[in-house]
Amino acid sequence: MSDPEKSDLDSLQSQILGQIAAATDEAALEAVRIATLGKKGSISALLATLGKMSPEARKTQGAAINLAKDAVTQALGARREVLKAAALDARLASETIDVTLPLREPPAEAGRIHPLSQVWDEVTTIFADMGFAVAEGPDIETDDYNFTRLNFPEGHPAREMHDTFYFNPKGDTGSEPGAGGSRLLLRTHTSPVQVRTMLSQKPPIRVICPGRTYRSDSDQTHTPMFHQVEGLVIDKSSHLGHLKWILHEFCKAFFEVDNVNMRFRPSFFPFTEPSLEVDIQCRRDKHEIRFGEGEDWLEILGCGMVHPNVLKLCGLDPEVYQGFAWGMGIDRIAMLKYGIADLRQLFEGDVRWLTHYGFRPLEVPTLAGGLSS
Ligand code: DAH
Repeated sequence: MSDPEKSDLDSLQSQILGQIAAATDEAALEAVRIATLGKKGSISALLATLGKMSPEARKTQGAAINLAKDAVTQALGARREVLKAAALDARLASETIDVTLPLREPPAEAGRIHPLSQVWDEVTTIFADMGFAVAEGPDIETDDYNFTRLNFPEGHPAREMHDTFYFNPKGDTGSEPGAGGSRLLLRTHTSPVQVRTMLSQKPPIRVICPGRTYRSDSDQTHTPMFHQVEGLVIDKSSHLGHLKWILHEFCKAFFEVDNVNMRFRPSFFPFTEPSLEVDIQCRRDKHEIRFGEGEDWLEILGCGMVHPNVLKLCGLDPEVYQGFAWGMGIDRIAMLKYGIADLRQLFEGDVRWLTHYGFRPLEVPTLAGGLSS
């Protein structure tokens, strides 16, 4: 073998080894293998020339070409191992799981506002926009504020209708109700907050009183604890026309419809004269109720002009002051608006139920942004 041929083979070999080292993935490496050891590859072509050589030349050149072939084969194998390992490392890196990341959604995503809290906020938002302040009173009331000053005389049958939870009189273990005006009870309605407001504020008064109320009653439409929102307006000239306008505006805003037909029926409450009950028009389809239109009527509240006796018992002169009041069931309007069939579901604390009926914590009801959207 002459020197120039040997150096040709050397430079071919080092060129191929350079290509192998430069291959950055297995596909590029395979291309180098085909171009060198494949059927039409450069080294295969050299091996094919051996047959035409003299036995002498074949001996020396054959050994040299086979050495080059071995070197290339070995380099291909070594490079393939390196590239395989690098590909595995890259895959492992891309599939890494950070086990320190939280598994659950953050509370602001997963938590839900109870439909009653939502409705409570909706109601106060609407009345606040009309200029009403929120007044509060205790859940444990006196007989005096819950009944007597609201013109329920002692022994009056209207007291019986309230299924009152009484506390035992102080120092007495008996259970007879009616031991004077200081006997404690769980308030049966939010109306005693009217009394507290009139006793502590000078007219003009314009308040709503949302709160918990209690009666010993339990079935699909009654729970021992429920919610009401009371309204009270006292000044020198308010009349039933104002009351009707306020309730009409409230219903349109609350049920998020352009018009609501309302029906005012005569009724009786000891603390109002005249007394009225209010129904709103609705249509019940199989699975939903539409408000403001249709053939059915649904009762949603009681109201009336504050009775002169109540004004007197709360320290106001009925010759000077007059006003109106209403009381509405929050649970009831929540069930109507959000299609809740059984009142008891509101108080069961079932997380699955809450996930379905609840509201996202950051979607606070506003009149501008929408109450329930
Ligand atoms: N307190 C009444 C009840 O629970 C509801 C009610 C009716 C409140 C008429 C009022 C009103 O303020 O004027 O049955």
